[in-house]
Amino acid sequence: MKNSISVFDCSVIDLGKISFDEGNLTVVENNSSFPFNVKRVFYLYDIAGGESRGAHSHKECHQFLIAASGSFEVSLDDGKFKRQVFLNRPDIGLHIPPGIWASEINFSSGAICLVLASHTYNEEDYVRNYDDFLSLNKLQIVDYTESILEKSWNWLNDPEIKHLTSTPDFSKEDQQKWFSGLENNTKYWVKGIQYNNKTIGVAGLKKIDTDNKTAEYFGYIGEKEYWGKGLSSDLFTLIFTIAKNQFDLKSLYLNVIPENIRAIKAYEKAGFTISENTDSNVMMSINL
Ligand SMILES: CC(C)(COP(=O)(O)OP(=O)(O)OC[C@H]1O[C@@H](n2cnc3c(N)ncnc32)[C@H](O)[C@@H]1OP(=O)(O)O)[C@@H](O)C(=O)NCCC(=O)NCCS
Repeated sequence: MKNSISVFDCSVIDLGKISFDEGNLTVVENNSSFPFNVKRVFYLYDIAGGESRGAHSHKECHQFLIAASGSFEVSLDDGKFKRQVFLNRPDIGLHIPPGIWASEINFSSGAICLVLASHTYNEEDYVRNYDDFLSLNKLQIVDYTESILEKSWNWLNDPEIKHLTSTPDFSKEDQQKWFSGLENNTKYWVKGIQYNNKTIGVAGLKKIDTDNKTAEYFGYIGEKEYWGKGLSSDLFTLIFTIAKNQFDLKSLYLNVIPENIRAIKAYEKAGFTISENTDSNVMMSINL
């Protein structure tokens, strides 16, 4: 499974230094060249040589670690890949985005670990149990609720998403009517997509044809920051499993506009092939 964030997204950044006869100065400022705006600073010190700290992940908070004095190693884990980064210079730091399991290990005696964080302290942002962390980095299919209905109003009215998904104009009333009809509509199945416990989109099957064992797939990731991160692979693994096991389907098809290259690539990656191609529509299908 490819997570949206991997250990390879943790970058070592050279902050630069200004040298004087008396010594050196390194500056961190909230600006475009630093990966996030700093809201909190804390530092770890008086840690016995060889000791470890950390071992947790954050849901939203970015952190930037600097060995202000001495050295330590940072052990990074994204649930699939692990990586260790050695820090021993006050002018170099490590950016750890949220969603990474990190711990600081092998402190040299007298080391100071300076941490710049994007958020103020919030215990709810911490994931302290490794098994919880592993289950967090998963894409899940969840029930389509009123709250997803509300989100999808915003997503589908975003001009870019509206265009990519060929969504016609619709009113709040139309949407509510559609939502109320879901329970009794056996030809239609719609779910929310969650990643890291955050609702990021919608996926489903329509025109479910139990005689011919086929249906039309539809779906979109509404939170744009999750586009192009490889989540479609996990999404289709789940959709295909449900289509086969819950609906006993043998094939799926879908429609996409020709300029939606990312979507077409994602569908091809999942195994769909083009069955019809016109100026305004590409139809793709897959045998499950
Ligand atoms: C279409 C969608 C489901 C694809 O899911 P995704 O998780 O973003 O897709 P992936 O990250 O798996 O990327 C799919 C492929 O497109 C490529 N890609 C990513 N961004 C791209 C871009 N801006 N332009 C072209 N190709 C792009 C990727 O490289 C990847 O191919 P690869 O794995 O061979 O490298 C999702 O982007 C989405 O919902 N977009 C908005 C709405 C939409 O288009 N819905 C579909 C309507 S039919």
